[in-house]
Amino acid sequence: MTSRLLFLSSLVALVAWPARAQTGTCPVVSSISVQPGFDYESFANESRWNVVLYSKIIPIEGLDMQVVKSDVSLMFSRDADNNKTVTLAGRVRLASSFAFCLKLQGSVEDSSEVPAKLRQSFYNPLTNQFLDFNFWILHTDYTNLAVVYACEKIMAADGTCDPGSSYMWTLSRGTSHTAAERERIQEIFQSMCLDMTSLRQIEHSDVCPMT
Ligand SMILES: *[C@@H]1O[C@H](CO)[C@@H](O)[C@H](O)[C@H]1NC(C)=O
Ligand SMILES: *[C@@H]1O[C@H](CO)[C@@H](O)[C@H](O)[C@H]1NC(C)=O
Repeated sequence: MTSRLLFLSSLVALVAWPARAQTGTCPVVSSISVQPGFDYESFANESRWNVVLYSKIIPIEGLDMQVVKSDVSLMFSRDADNNKTVTLAGRVRLASSFAFCLKLQGSVEDSSEVPAKLRQSFYNPLTNQFLDFNFWILHTDYTNLAVVYACEKIMAADGTCDPGSSYMWTLSRGTSHTAAERERIQEIFQSMCLDMTSLRQIEHSDVCPMT
């Protein structure tokens, strides 16, 4: 039971509802531009990134319940062997009167040619397998905003992302975005043929511990 509950924490970053709207011309996935000269150390910076907006969840095999989350944060770091790591923390609400903070540790890989194309991996005790997903940093200013994208299925016909398999998140060092940041986010969403109105917001009111 403990591992099952603990695993729910992985939902925090991945949570979503099926809402999604597609607009404009969708880019070929291999041509999507990511943060140039991405620097993992500055991005990690021993400080949290709070998930503010998200499009939908990456489905988790073996999990059949919907949970409500808030206060979802990510912290990037390195372990004793200098491997890149990610810690996910968030509050999971299983019933209106029952909520708790959960934390999950995962690993981070990057593609050596493109440092901004990260991939996260978390152990899934429900299937005894790893849940892996892309985590591409499309844009970040390192200090307050990051826009993250994942495509989990490319269409063979034209190389665009399968509409049901693209995901976006925005991260902030704070808990909301400024008007200028929203404009930047909107530009990026449009270039990805995603509609901002399909986004959901994660509430941040009570910080979950990372350690
Ligand atoms: C971490 O962030 C602070 C505040 O923005 C900055 O002064 C510092 O240089 C950053 N450290 C790294 C390693 O980027
Ligand atoms: C770092 O990664 C290597 C290769 O995946 C692994 O064998 C090693 O156990 C990792 N180190 C830690 C501290 O987890």
